[in-house]
Amino acid sequence: MSTIVRAAVLSAVGEPVRIESLGLIDPRPGEVRVRILASGVCHSDLHVRDGEWDRPTPIVMGHEGAGVVEAVGPGVELQVGQPVALSWLIPCGTCRACRSDRPWACPASPSFRHRLLDGTIPFRRACPSGPDGGESVLAYCAIGTMAEAVVVPAAAAIPIPDGVDPAVAALIGCCVTTGVGAVLKTANVESGASVAVIGLGGVGLSCVMGAVLAGASRIVAIDRAAAKLDTATAVGATDVIVAAPHAGETLAALRDLTDGGPDYVFEAIGLPATVELAIESLPLGGAAVLVGMTPLGARAAFEVYPFVDGSRRILGSNYGFADPGVDFARYAQLHLDGRLPIDRLIDRRIGLDDLEVAFDAMRDGRYTRQVVVPG
Ligand SMILES: NC(=O)c1ccc[n+]([C@@H]2O[C@H](COP(=O)([O-])OP(=O)(O)OC[C@H]3O[C@@H](n4cnc5c(N)ncnc54)[C@H](O)[C@@H]3O)[C@@H](O)[C@H]2O)c1
Ligand SMILES: [Zn+2]
Ligand SMILES: [Zn+2]
Repeated sequence: MSTIVRAAVLSAVGEPVRIESLGLIDPRPGEVRVRILASGVCHSDLHVRDGEWDRPTPIVMGHEGAGVVEAVGPGVELQVGQPVALSWLIPCGTCRACRSDRPWACPASPSFRHRLLDGTIPFRRACPSGPDGGESVLAYCAIGTMAEAVVVPAAAAIPIPDGVDPAVAALIGCCVTTGVGAVLKTANVESGASVAVIGLGGVGLSCVMGAVLAGASRIVAIDRAAAKLDTATAVGATDVIVAAPHAGETLAALRDLTDGGPDYVFEAIGLPATVELAIESLPLGGAAVLVGMTPLGARAAFEVYPFVDGSRRILGSNYGFADPGVDFARYAQLHLDGRLPIDRLIDRRIGLDDLEVAFDAMRDGRYTRQVVVPG
């Protein structure tokens, strides 16, 4: 038995994503089928689509999704109808990182193989010679959320409290957990610190919201697109800078606003030039937290002597050091309590067929967070 679903498939990197009808396997022991109600468009999807990272194809796109449990395999405790957000990093549970409470650093996750735990590929193209004969289609990060429904390991489906908009829950699946976690967990920003955020997409604005939760005294938001600065102010930035074409001007403005440089600066774009700007802006003892992901192979440079002499730090942050089973519910509750205005990031809802249009808009820096509603 299998279900037929529409899904956004990348057949070869650099080519447009196409919407196809695929067969989806039924959930087996330890697996659940989730009806996807919302899937955010994250810049990581665009890196994959444009071939900036090395990912296998054909693959169902998407890794920032939420929905409801529609069917469960044997041995699964989740109930049908339970709202869930999907985690794009499913910890193996047994490696050294998992055993030392660092699930975000798990090197053995099935998410990296884009398959279910036993290696099974959940989607299949139709084949005229029989229902099981078509080509397999991988699921990005083992969850492939740009589809009407997905079958995932139960550990990837994290319960979300009732009353949370599925689009908000979807963002908790990637950009919110990444940005808020970078501030609260990776950097552990202390109350009263000064913070700068470079790049104000879903990830950077989540860093801004995280800085508010941390009690930062000054939160400087930087982007080249002026419209993003208004959203940053709406979610708690105290100051904004329109990024100048010359980094020196941006640097001077940032130093002016932060008494010589921010205690913490979050780079949320993934460009060597802005990584270098972040590091150069640091005062004595300051920390640059790198959250944006560059194309593979990109390098950045900095002057070593003042970096060491000034006890400055560079931290990398993957998935906001997430423990999804704990953090998703915490971020959802903060949202319900009015302390994490995730809904303000969502400014466009589209269908699956408009994904390529959404990628074009993202390349141009238009919209804050676009959300695909597949149904
Ligand atoms: N570390 C992680 O675990 C993790 C998780 C998710 C996403 N990411 C990465 O974070 C980055 C941001 O993702 P997003 O979805 O928020 O992206 P986005 O495209 O929505 O936002 C990027 C922002 O940067 C701005 N920008 C681009 N170039 C600029 C420049 N030169 N100067 C100033 N502003 C500039 C754009 O206007 C836009 O507002 C991506 O590289 C993505 O792959 C990392
Ligand atoms: Zn993402
Ligand atoms: Zn592990």
